Amino acid sequence: MDGTFNENDLSRVIEADRANVWHHLVQHQQFFTGADPKIIVEGKGMRVWDQKGIEHLDAVAGGVWTVNVGYGRETMGDAVRDAIVKMNFFGGTAGTIPGALFAEKLISKMPGMSRVYYANSGSEANEKGFKLVRQIAHKKYGGKKHKILYRDRDYHGSTIGSMSAGGQDERNAQYGPFTPGFVRVPHCLEYRKHEQDGAPAENYGEWAANQIEEVILREGPDTVGALCLEPVTAGGGVIEAPDGYWPRVAEICKKYDILLHIDEVVCGVGRTGEWFGYQHYGIKPDIVAMAKGVASGYAAISCLVTTEEVFDMFKDDSSDPLNYFRDISTFGGCTGGPAAAMENMRIIEDENLLQNTVDMGAYMLDQLHALKDKHKVIGDVRGKGLFLGAELVADRDTREPIEEKRVQAVVGDCMKNGVIIGATNRSLPGRNNTLCYSPALIVTKDDIDQIISATDNALSRVFG
Ligand SMILES: Cc1ncc(COP(=O)(O)O)c(C=O)c1O
Repeated sequence: MDGTFNENDLSRVIEADRANVWHHLVQHQQFFTGADPKIIVEGKGMRVWDQKGIEHLDAVAGGVWTVNVGYGRETMGDAVRDAIVKMNFFGGTAGTIPGALFAEKLISKMPGMSRVYYANSGSEANEKGFKLVRQIAHKKYGGKKHKILYRDRDYHGSTIGSMSAGGQDERNAQYGPFTPGFVRVPHCLEYRKHEQDGAPAENYGEWAANQIEEVILREGPDTVGALCLEPVTAGGGVIEAPDGYWPRVAEICKKYDILLHIDEVVCGVGRTGEWFGYQHYGIKPDIVAMAKGVASGYAAISCLVTTEEVFDMFKDDSSDPLNYFRDISTFGGCTGGPAAAMENMRIIEDENLLQNTVDMGAYMLDQLHALKDKHKVIGDVRGKGLFLGAELVADRDTREPIEEKRVQAVVGDCMKNGVIIGATNRSLPGRNNTLCYSPALIVTKDDIDQIISATDNALSRVFG
């Protein structure tokens, strides 16, 4: 192809994409048997336009819970441009102005935390957390207290290390063997407690947390260094832990001297109506990873945040040549990320978007409950803030999940009618049956009405 490009004729772009781009999570055969790859050309506010100029209302913030402040924000572009023209990058051994100022701002939203380590992706931030735990085990416990517990249905990233902490068997299938020293604990999805041996009718939250203690005792507390959990499980089915769960988790971690690593990659920076998901539950993490919403996708940035106590273990003895975190992320030294993150936070504060998330989240949850009253295929509705899910079942009594292809048919019908919603996909064998909603935090009642109406019509068309 030559270098000329006519902005109004995207056929060349589509052909370039078809010929050379490998899309994420996509089976490509369809693009050689009639379908065109989708190209998203432009975005403004809650809406995006594709190569045919068709408008879509985006109910999943860029497909994967990311664009929290919405599309087309000029001030985000200005912040990144100003930062990178002055000083675009320097390796993280040195500081930068945006890096220092955003770290200070971020820590002001996280009482009890004190240090920010910059990287690029959620997977990478989590991996760095795991490396901290391993190094602490070597420094303090002769390497023994190195195991990292993770939960069934949770996800922490796409690298082999983070997949080793992956609680989604279908997502992990064919990518093993994984890293040793990661141990699974049971999920805490009350709606599916009938599938868990011994789950009680009452106090399920406490019981689910006690299952973690059982794993710790089985493994040996002196071998377990950390427990890694999502505050609200995302791709595993939008799962908020029931009452009684988090206080017990905190107690267990304290009792056995286990670090609590919270994966805020989806929940972080506003999605649930607090700055961080864990802040709903009164817990004090030792390590927090965040990525997607930190800069709403205007720049690639992730952060690993720790307490001063954790940080101190890596600086207490400067006579030991190995006694510091010997880790680097080249692009953690880009200034565009923290500059965008700073502006992202300013927007959330100035536009009162945390409150909007609480208000619109409550409204949307009510609307989903109304849909549940109308469509018996909806077995459960759940979530926190603007992070919501509707689990589809073939039978409300047995809770047998609807098969994935019919769930995808609902998603496809919404897409055809101009609304992008999500669903759990190829993650949990036989359990990819939850519709997912995570609109940008600027969403209005009218937008929600449009999302609910598209879902309502899609459910009627797919399930009659
Ligand atoms: C909870 C959670 N953790 C980690 C990740 C990995 O983030 P990334 O894709 O930026 O590596 C994701 C991505 O979806 C996620 O949902």
